[in-house]
Parts: sequence; C-alpha cells; structure tokens
Amino acid sequence: MFREFFGFREKPFGKTPNPAYLYESPHHREALARLEYAIEEKELALLYGDVGSGKTTLSRALIDRIAGARPVILIINPTLSPAQLLRSIASGFGLTPKHHRADLLDQIYSKLYELYEERREPVLIIDEAQLIPKKATFEEIRLLTNFQLDDENLLSIVLIGQPELKERLSHKAYRALRQRIGIQYSLRSLSEEETAHYVNHRIRVAGGSVNPFTMEAMSAMFRCSEGIPRVINTLATTALLDAYGDESSTIDAGRILAAAREHGLDGGQG
Ligand SMILES: Nc1ncnc2c1ncn2[C@@H]1O[C@H](COP(=O)(O)OP(=O)(O)OP(=O)(O)O)[C@@H](O)[C@H]1O
Ligand SMILES: [Mg+2]
Repeated sequence: MFREFFGFREKPFGKTPNPAYLYESPHHREALARLEYAIEEKELALLYGDVGSGKTTLSRALIDRIAGARPVILIINPTLSPAQLLRSIASGFGLTPKHHRADLLDQIYSKLYELYEERREPVLIIDEAQLIPKKATFEEIRLLTNFQLDDENLLSIVLIGQPELKERLSHKAYRALRQRIGIQYSLRSLSEEETAHYVNHRIRVAGGSVNPFTMEAMSAMFRCSEGIPRVINTLATTALLDAYGDESSTIDAGRILAAAREHGLDGGQG
C-alpha cells in the first residue's frame, strides 16, 4: 500500500471532513474564532465559502470545541419545510415532536428554557443552508431567534452555505432575517504559501515524517486547485498513487499536472 511506502500511518488526503486534520489557515482560524464568539453571544452567524473550501470541516472542529459545554443540533440536509425543521430540532433535543405547530413551539421553548437554567444554551448548526427550499423555512429560523428571555437569546444559530446563499439572502425579501445576523464570514481559498503549509500539515497529522512533494509540485497543486482544499486532496492522492506505482519517493510538478489532466482540471497553465 502507498501508506507504508511513504511512511504514513493513515491516508493523508482523505475525503472526509475530519477535524483532526484541520489546518488553521488565517481564514479558517478567523472563521472559527468568529463562530465561537457568535455562539458565546448567542447570535445568528453565517459562514459562506466555495464548494470544497472547508466549511463542513470547520463546523466539525467547532462542534469538537463546544459540544462539551452545550448541546449541539446539527442539520446536514436542510431540504426541510418549516414544520420539518421544528420537528428536527425537537428530535435533536431528544424529544418526541408534537404534531401541532403551537405545541411543537411550546415543547422547544420549554426545552430551551430548561437548558438556559442549566446554563447550557444550545447551538443549532445548519450546514448546506443553500439547499433550504423556501423562504418560509428561513422565516422559521428567524422566528427561532425570537426565543428570548430578558433580552437574551436562548439559542445560537449558525448557518453554513455556498456563496449562492449569500446572494439569496441579499434580496429584499430576506431583510428581516438579515437584520438578525450578528456575524458573517466568507471563507477564502488558500494562498500558494498556505497550500504548501496545508500539504505539510496533513502529511504530519497522517504520521509522515518526510513530505514527498517538491516545492514545484506544491506550486502546481496550488495553480491547478486554485487553493481549494478538496481539489488539493484529490490531486495529492492521485499523484501519491501514481508515484507509488513507479516506486518514486518524490513527487514533482509533472505528476501533479498529470493528475490535474486526469481529473479534467486546467493543468495550471493559466
Ligand atoms: N482547513 C482545512 N484543514 C484540513 N482539511 C481541510 C480544510 N479545509 C478543507 N479540508 C479538506 O477538504 C475537503 C473538503 O472540505 P469540506 O467538506 O469541509 O468543504 P465544504 O466547504 O464543506 O464543501 P461543500 O461546499 O462541498 O460542502 C475535506 O476532505 C476536508 O478534510
Ligand atoms: Mg460541506
């Protein structure tokens, strides 16, 4: 296996959003800090970022940091009607959701109040929020921010989505929701230098003591991936497998360009 060949304990460029591999680029670190702050302040927070830029990974890292102190409800498939959203929240609290909306809201409010008294205010995280089908569901999210006591929110809400979410929420129809947003942050792709740090970091976490990629290879990875971590992972894995096949312990830019072509990416010429 290529793992043994390169001296890795695990596959360094896996596809899953595993927070153990989190590389804290300045943007990722800032995003995490802002989300933590928003949760402390019980604000509504929004995190945007391109496909594959690390939003879900960040949400998992965030959960690791806060879940000891607060219950977290994570919704990863938010193609939900308002009623389905409320039911998911009730289930997330371990309750059996009531049938009628008013009862359901009462049920959720009682739970929020109970957690507030225990000083364990919960966090609702909705990933892939660009998939929320209708404005009515966003309206329900807005109404959840009305659960307050003495002017204090009882629930922190984090919405995470691709850039089209930002575009959508900028329309007039979403003005009321927009006014509730305390914190928003757009995650950026990695710079060339950060791409090299990212590659080094993942290799180290995977137990590798030598980085087989040359500097030129990492530059090529940056150009072909435009600094998007998921694409970097794909290129790196393909190049590692390819080099293993040739029993080559270093990986040069040529292998990255070949991997890019294999995946139909612009070979980094531009
Ligand atoms: N800061 C990071 N540190 C380590 N790995 C990262 C980082 N950012 C992204 N990755 C890796 O890149 C891949 C894509 O990340 P992730 O799934 O978090 O992106 P996403 O923004 O949620 O994408 P999508 O819009 O498709 O949901 C994962 O394999 C993840 O491990
Ligand atoms: Mg994601």
